[in-house]
Amino acid sequence: MQEAIILVGGKGTRLRPLTNHTPKPLLGVAGSSFIRHQIAKLMDAGVGHVVFATSYLASLFEEEFKDFSQDLKISYAVEEVPLGTGGAIRNAARLLHGTSPDAPVLILNGDILSGVDLPTLLERHEERAADVTLHLTRVPDPRAFGLVPTDGSGRVLSFLEKPKTPEECVTDQINAGCYVFRRSVLDAIPADREVSVEQETFPQLVAAGRRVYGHTTEEYWRDLGTPLAFVHGSADLVTGRATSSLVGPPSEALIHPTAVVDPTSRVTGGSTIGPHAVIGPHVVVDRSIIGAGVVVAEDARIHESVVDHDSSIGRASLLREVVVGCHAHIGADNELPAQLRLSCGIRIPAQGVRVSGTAAACPTVH
Ligand code: GDD
Ligand code: MG
Repeated sequence: MQEAIILVGGKGTRLRPLTNHTPKPLLGVAGSSFIRHQIAKLMDAGVGHVVFATSYLASLFEEEFKDFSQDLKISYAVEEVPLGTGGAIRNAARLLHGTSPDAPVLILNGDILSGVDLPTLLERHEERAADVTLHLTRVPDPRAFGLVPTDGSGRVLSFLEKPKTPEECVTDQINAGCYVFRRSVLDAIPADREVSVEQETFPQLVAAGRRVYGHTTEEYWRDLGTPLAFVHGSADLVTGRATSSLVGPPSEALIHPTAVVDPTSRVTGGSTIGPHAVIGPHVVVDRSIIGAGVVVAEDARIHESVVDHDSSIGRASLLREVVVGCHAHIGADNELPAQLRLSCGIRIPAQGVRVSGTAAACPTVH
């Protein structure tokens, strides 16, 4: 039986405040928690046992899957103190059922939306009798990732996590956060301390001449770890640029049956509207995620933003690349600029924030 480990113990700091109460892999993306899309992909690839390597808000993973009735065994390796990516993999390996030292184990970061064909990745690993096979992809700006140059045969030459200087950016080919490990290699990771698979394990394996190979693909790939990537990933699933067996045919928007959307509003670009949300007249929601119970008043415009559950957006307010935490209230006529992240429960009065400024409300008398 094919087994897999998913790393889901990170704090998701770049997605705060959404991750204040929900771990990144459990955030809603195109109508389901992100991890469910990953689980569906693993099951389609024949995986029969998944170990979640959890730490931050660990109990919520067990809660999410307590009624999961499909044909998949799920185990939880909980780290009281985060062990780093390598330590987490080693710790989770304790719970794998297989015992063969050569068994291939799939390992995934818990925030990767990817079109990679997992059976092909496993095949390449076996064909090359590799110790580790890394899925690699190319991105326009590789600085936020692990750089992985390879030779003509696909053999990994070095591994450079998050390059600091332009000289270190030797390639645009990056670690896509999905690996196949030979079981014995995984068991050799130190068990008694924090280990980074990117900064320690991969460089050491390459330096020791172990058979570390890359499998580079051109398919869809996105790390959902930043707000913009998160909304784009969700929208791509809705519009069909990215695929998941949990999402229906490509469409402009995914509107929950209990949501109420005024017929004069436009919900486009792969936006998602959650349960019991209310979207008023002449509203534009474009490439955004609107959570459960959110109320958006007339003439508001929301672009590439996330509004978490039970918040409200006032009349004629404009949001662009903004994250609004849960239970927040944004009054009328606000103009919220890109990269703003508003705390859960915050209240912004009418005209409280306007990047373009306006004289209308100025109380100074001349
Ligand atoms: N269990 C556990 N314990 N999981 C962890 C820990 C830990 O201590 N630290 C991080 N994780 C999990 C996160 O939850 C996430 O799913 C995954 O490991 C990767 O962590 P990120 O914080 O998302 O890392 P990143 O995006 O900066 O970089 C990683 O992913 C890139 C691809 O998206 C690296 O693997 C890069 O090399 C890679 O290019
Ligand atoms: Mg990430």
